[in-house]
Amino acid sequence: MCGIVAYTGKSLCRNLVLGGLARLEYRGYDSAGFVCIDQKHGQFSFDKEAGGSSPIERLTDKIHFDGTAGMAHTRWATHGMVDIKNAHPHFNCNKTIAVVHNGIIEGHEALREQILARGHQVVSTTDSELAAHLFNDEVEQHKDLKSAVIAFVSQIRGAFAFVFLLVEHPGTLIVIRHRSSIVIGIGNDEAFVASDFIAFADRTNRVVFMPDDTFAFVHHDTVEIYDFLGRPIPYSIQTLDQSYVEIDKGVFEHFMLKEIYEQKRAINRTIGFCKMLGNQSSEVFPHGNDQWAAPLDFNDSIWRQLGLSVEQVVGLRHINLVSAGTSWHAASIAQFFFEMICKIPTRVFLASEFRYMPFFPEQDSVYIVVSQSGETADTLEALRLINSHNVPTIAITNVASSSIVREAGGFLPMQAGPEISVASTKVFSTQLATLYWLANRIALERGLITTEEMYNAEEQLCVAAEVLESTIEMYKFRIIQDLAPKYMHYSHFIFLGRHISYPFALEASLKLKEISYIFAQCYPAGELKHGPIALIDEHTPVVIFSVLDDLLYRKLLSNAYEVKARNGHLVVFAFEGQDELISMADTAFVIPPVTPLLGPLAMTGLMQFFIYHITRQLGMPIDKPRNLAKSVTVE
Ligand code: G6P
Repeated sequence: MCGIVAYTGKSLCRNLVLGGLARLEYRGYDSAGFVCIDQKHGQFSFDKEAGGSSPIERLTDKIHFDGTAGMAHTRWATHGMVDIKNAHPHFNCNKTIAVVHNGIIEGHEALREQILARGHQVVSTTDSELAAHLFNDEVEQHKDLKSAVIAFVSQIRGAFAFVFLLVEHPGTLIVIRHRSSIVIGIGNDEAFVASDFIAFADRTNRVVFMPDDTFAFVHHDTVEIYDFLGRPIPYSIQTLDQSYVEIDKGVFEHFMLKEIYEQKRAINRTIGFCKMLGNQSSEVFPHGNDQWAAPLDFNDSIWRQLGLSVEQVVGLRHINLVSAGTSWHAASIAQFFFEMICKIPTRVFLASEFRYMPFFPEQDSVYIVVSQSGETADTLEALRLINSHNVPTIAITNVASSSIVREAGGFLPMQAGPEISVASTKVFSTQLATLYWLANRIALERGLITTEEMYNAEEQLCVAAEVLESTIEMYKFRIIQDLAPKYMHYSHFIFLGRHISYPFALEASLKLKEISYIFAQCYPAGELKHGPIALIDEHTPVVIFSVLDDLLYRKLLSNAYEVKARNGHLVVFAFEGQDELISMADTAFVIPPVTPLLGPLAMTGLMQFFIYHITRQLGMPIDKPRNLAKSVTVE
């Protein structure tokens, strides 16, 4: 994980590098550091900040030195505590080599012993610092940098993106990549290296995506790339059709609140975009924030865009969804879309588990990887595994320039626009909208629904988006004035859902945990009686999410009675007309009915708004919860 930005060129780099680093905060914010070469004195100037909610901001405020080559790093701690000594950059003993690192070095304990045995002073408890010492020894032993890098790489295992800066080679950034993404930006007499193109997108949109298992020497005017055996690798410079737009909170107190309110528009944009792609309508819809929208050829048919032939779509016999975190919850809800609308057996995998399970490539199957960032290491590695078996893969992500998009066979971009708050809100609802639309589009292609029904599905998505927003307005004052101040005092919650509302309940419980730090446990409602019922008392609210299916509603009702019979405190998210459930609840949120499969989407805004305000009452740093990062690029 972590974010890297580096610069070499003719300008002073402090503002460029630290400005870029601020845009990579989504990759972690445990600590931050900056280093540049002080050419006059032939040494590094550097500083670091650790802990608190904004180390990058504090670092930026305190740094006054500058140089024409430098780099910065924002850390998400893996090995070693969050403190100054573990903050990057790290150095060799005599501080002539600086390194920033994203990833994990495997077997670092043995490496540490070797390095200590050679007499080095290791000051941090990170795996990353070891790279500076190891590289130091290789530079001393080899007459040229290229041989030193080759020898260095042969001793490192794990996943890594390194950038080294050497006092003796002040204009050169040495970049090494193995299973961790890094991009080079080619500017006007200057070059950048960063974990994500947005770090330098305001300066150049000409980029080189370094291939895996390569290293590069980046100078202000040239880039040389080699494989790990030292053979030159030809590369091409791509011009990205994207630019960076500074996003602010506007009138909102937090990005999370702003993004909750952006959902209706994002869903409408998604539907409009999908319609254009699906070639069903000539209507032109605005399609998202340009920064994140994909550079698409709108004449392409949807299936070409997804890398499938019409025959493959018609012949599909298995759909598989792979993802992590909130995206996994969206995928788990979408299982119901694909199975119930397309009648295709669908499996949902957690990317972190999928990679270590036996893989059975099936004929007539497709793997859809769902990821907000398109960079989640577990999801990316799962995609690589699937790709190695030549099974069709489709990426559904919010970032068109991401690794997952580059590596998947096809790509369906979400139209959420940039999501800044670490806790995902509008991406979750946009994922649901995208997946629901796709399920219907597949069903249309297979002759399971008519064009009329396809239009109706799109209309229903708009209705659900409307309900998502209007219910927030309905409950806004009650939540702010009564409910959030009341529920902030509970230290434990139980969440229950059934059928399609179970993965939605999982998402709700994750949302509460990640931003408020209140412990929340989620169960399929039918499992309550098999153990969790022992936890029920008046101090533990049980939150039940209802469904729009009569039979399942009755089952949920029984579960609600089981809670009340034990003096439990009941909160329900129910639909209009579900009076029995509503009347037995201590607190009921009542939502206008929508088409049954879109029940979770319709409830999304209210659920997020309720949890947001509980957290706000508690005074937690809502947009940047402790220990989390928006993009998790380590396994
Ligand atoms: C992190 C984020 C979550 C996100 C998950 C998967 O844990 O904090 O909000 O759901 O990664 O991320 P992805 O970008 O693949 O959807």
